[in-house]
Amino acid sequence: MNKIINTLREKKFIPLDRFINIALYDKKFGYYMKKNPFGKKGDFITAPLISNLFSEMIAVWCVAFWEHLGKPNKILLVELGPGDGTLCKDLIKTFKKFKDFYNSLEINLFEISNKLKKIQKIKINSKKVKWIKKIEEINYGPVIFFGNEFFDALPIKQIYKKKNNFFEKYVALTTNEKNIKFLHKKANNNLIKCIKDLNLISIGDTIEYPLEALKFLKQISKKINKFDGGLLTIDYGYTLKKNQNTLQAVKKHNYLDIFFKPGHSDITSHINFKLFSKSLSEDNLAVKKITTQSEFLKKVGILKRADILSKKMTFKEKANMFYRLKRLIDPKEMGDRFKVIFAQKKGKIFSLGF
Ligand SMILES: C[S@@+](CC[C@H](N)C(=O)[O-])C[C@H]1O[C@@H](n2cnc3c(N)ncnc32)[C@H](O)[C@@H]1O
Repeated sequence: MNKIINTLREKKFIPLDRFINIALYDKKFGYYMKKNPFGKKGDFITAPLISNLFSEMIAVWCVAFWEHLGKPNKILLVELGPGDGTLCKDLIKTFKKFKDFYNSLEINLFEISNKLKKIQKIKINSKKVKWIKKIEEINYGPVIFFGNEFFDALPIKQIYKKKNNFFEKYVALTTNEKNIKFLHKKANNNLIKCIKDLNLISIGDTIEYPLEALKFLKQISKKINKFDGGLLTIDYGYTLKKNQNTLQAVKKHNYLDIFFKPGHSDITSHINFKLFSKSLSEDNLAVKKITTQSEFLKKVGILKRADILSKKMTFKEKANMFYRLKRLIDPKEMGDRFKVIFAQKKGKIFSLGF
């Protein structure tokens, strides 16, 4: 908290995205930089930790996409924000069953947190894996970018629209300097132009502008256009055109105010998938379709796989597996809330999962 207080004392106010960036990713103070937040004992749980069936489906999808690309003898998989490394570890286990694919494969992990990198290194322990600091470092392909809950963990800007005026949300200290509050300041012309160009001013008074996510999408598109390949990403998000305020903080599996102990809770927002699709298409990629996590996993074959595995299981193991499967695909749980988008270099279209 001190880092935020000191910054706000010094600067008086900072844009919301800068606040989120300090709260989550400041080298010393940031939430992701000092703890492992995942799992039952942590603050939240993600799909790869719920069931390794999730990772198996991603692995099968990657192998099928590689086949679609003509089985190149070098294929690079880049995982965006690998968390505690569970997905990568489980992917490698499945990839080993596909010998030709496995022999062609190298994996790059794109991770900002040194704390998480250490955890990933211990968990994964594979010569196939290297860590990269920047997307620009990628210098060969074809490349498959995959992210699960990467984009929803990136800082966003919020713009408040009142009649035809636009105000950017800033963060400041209250007069007694004990709490943090929002401030609205007239948005600058550049920012207004960006949100107008992106058609973000339709219905609703809070406009979310994922500046950092859009920068990453541009860098990723550039690599895919250059080296061939695609981007598959899964996130909590929506496809409605309506603008909404989706900012939230989570600690110990409960929602709380984003100003309550920043640096000690996760802060996320929901992804505007139509905006992602627009950005990727404008960067000349072919976007197949946006689908739900439920549809995607079912189309890749998660039900069949669970059925096969269940044949050798005890009743207790079966119950556990199907309970976890339900969490992934039930529309009332993660099934509909999480969406999947796939974009690839223009040409022949790959449609597994969509
Ligand atoms: C919500 S977690 C998702 C973890 C994992 N994919 C999973 O499903 O369990 C977000 C991940 O993205 C990483 N991350 C966030 N911002 C990043 C950035 N700018 N560059 C690289 N990694 C980043 C975080 O440190 C964390 O590993």
